[in-house]
Amino acid sequence: MDSILVTGNGPLQGQIPIAGAKNACLTLMPATLLSEEPLTLTNAPRLSDIKTMTALLQSLGAEVTTLQDGQVLAMSSHDLDSHVADYDIVRKMRASILVLGPMLARDGHAVVSLPGGCAIGARPVDLHLKALEAMGAELELKEGYVHAKAPGGLEGGVVEFPLVSVGATENALMAATLAKGSTVLKNAAREPEIVDLAQCLRKMGAQIEGEGTSEITIQGVDRLHGATHPVVTDRIELGTFMLAPAICGGEVECLGGRIDLVEAFCERLDAAGVSVEETDVGLKVARKNGRVRAVDVVTEPFPGFPTDLQAQMMALMCTAEGTSVLEEKIFENRFMHAPELMRMGAKIDVHGGTATVTGVERLKGAPVMATDLRASVSLILAGLAAEGETLVNRVYHLDRGYERVEEKLGNVGARIERVQGE
Ligand code: UD1
Repeated sequence: MDSILVTGNGPLQGQIPIAGAKNACLTLMPATLLSEEPLTLTNAPRLSDIKTMTALLQSLGAEVTTLQDGQVLAMSSHDLDSHVADYDIVRKMRASILVLGPMLARDGHAVVSLPGGCAIGARPVDLHLKALEAMGAELELKEGYVHAKAPGGLEGGVVEFPLVSVGATENALMAATLAKGSTVLKNAAREPEIVDLAQCLRKMGAQIEGEGTSEITIQGVDRLHGATHPVVTDRIELGTFMLAPAICGGEVECLGGRIDLVEAFCERLDAAGVSVEETDVGLKVARKNGRVRAVDVVTEPFPGFPTDLQAQMMALMCTAEGTSVLEEKIFENRFMHAPELMRMGAKIDVHGGTATVTGVERLKGAPVMATDLRASVSLILAGLAAEGETLVNRVYHLDRGYERVEEKLGNVGARIERVQGE
């Protein structure tokens, strides 16, 4: 298994291109199952999670052709020869559950393996299932699989989510495009990835209003047609690379970055003493002066501070002046990076969903273990600011969500290299 070796060094300087959003792409890809005509995505990120979704769609009979070195995904689901999403693929990636709504809406039946647990918490899919039931689906759980049926097609209805779920909103939104009549999604997620999905579905002929607010209304149509759609910028990759100059000094311009994607995060950066300037091509980030100050963070659904940037923000807080409190409100077990950061000399106290971080002058390099996707990149950020060498082991998590991270950081002056494993 590969590792990443980071040697702490001085200020970074230059530009980092930000890729299309992994999480948007993972919901846009299953949208191909809604139509017999081709759906083409441009600005796709080149990540192992995208390969996993490609394999899943292909296992259902969809054609997926990768063009322009992976940045264009040409998909066609003219004939589906299977409606079964197998455990072997689904267990690798929870987002696989997103094929359920589209298959059911189009053909009236689907069988999808339950994703099972995952490192950052229980993460059930009950909200996905309840939303589809509210649209008339009959569901049965058998041997770890959800067997879903809607023989006469799905029917519109009111779906009120008891808590905000990105994935459940996406599944319900896709399913509702082909349901009879109108569907209202209440307490819907407002993430930019939902807005991107709605825009793509509208290009395919769907009738949707209210995306980006907590109430989305969908008027079902008989069929959707083909479309071409660019994947929105990855706000999590953006936020991650914005933290690189915050943590080790210098000035980095993140190409394609937009404030509206990361507003709550930028507000916290500002309070910590990091400036973010909008340019014609992206966002330019630098420390305002000297050491960063400690700030408190509470993760929330969009437009709040994203849980997917909590680990990286913690890395910054490890060397900030003062004490910060980070509260994780989305996932119950998302501080696994804390003990690894402590191996590097960080002072962190975790109690339930709260981590208290007291900044130290400098972290010290150490061998550490990546426990999940965002945790692994937080250890790389910490390594950039540490004295000596940090070896981040088990980086397969990283490859799920970050495109060529060593090259992107290396190009702005970071000393970082991949060490090939056996
Ligand atoms: C998506 C993102 C993930 C991000 C998360 C929160 C993708 C592929 N992944 O995950 O990177 O961290 O949003 O911004 O887009 N829940 C239930 N029942 C359900 C579904 C969710 O209880 O049926 C709970 C979850 O356990 C969690 C909360 O709801 O505590 C929010 O999860 P959700 O928004 O659904 O996350 P994902 O869509 O899985």
